[in-house]
Amino acid sequence: MNWTIKLAFLSIFGTVVFFSCQQEPYRQGKNLYAIHCENCHMADGTGLGGNIPPLAKSDYLAQNQALISCIIKYGQEGKIVVNGTTYEEPMPGVESLSEFQIANIINYINHAWGNDYGFVKLEDIREQIENCN
Ligand code: HEC
Repeated sequence: MNWTIKLAFLSIFGTVVFFSCQQEPYRQGKNLYAIHCENCHMADGTGLGGNIPPLAKSDYLAQNQALISCIIKYGQEGKIVVNGTTYEEPMPGVESLSEFQIANIINYINHAWGNDYGFVKLEDIREQIENCN
């Protein structure tokens, strides 16, 4: 093969990879969400009545980014207020999730359902998990 053909191949391949990543940038996070979170928080992130708080447009999620990794790994108990409603059902954690998987889940929920709560970095998640209390 000559160079022009190789380059043409590479750019086509590159474009395909680029577009498939663009369409679903949080694929692993989304899959993990479906397995571990969707039962309670629902596929559309709206939660369930007065028992399960929403993640979609959640002010709690927006304002407590540093706590989310620990909530996912070790669960959450006690009263919290989300979008003006008080919740106090306990949430079980999923201790088997790796820090990488947790980062992917957070990046998914931070950008799903119209949320725009920013990206988390693996090293930040690592540090947060080491300091969960
Ligand atoms: C068994 C049901 C259940 C499962 C499964 C569950 N949660 Fe929760 N989650 C809750 C409940 C109940 C609360 C409120 C806890 C409280 O009141 O202290 C909560 C709170 C939260 C909060 C903080 C409040 C908010 O709405 O912003 C986040 C973020 C969250 N969950 C994310 C997740 C993620 C991500 C997963 C999957 C890894 C998950 N949850 C799995 C029930 C669940």
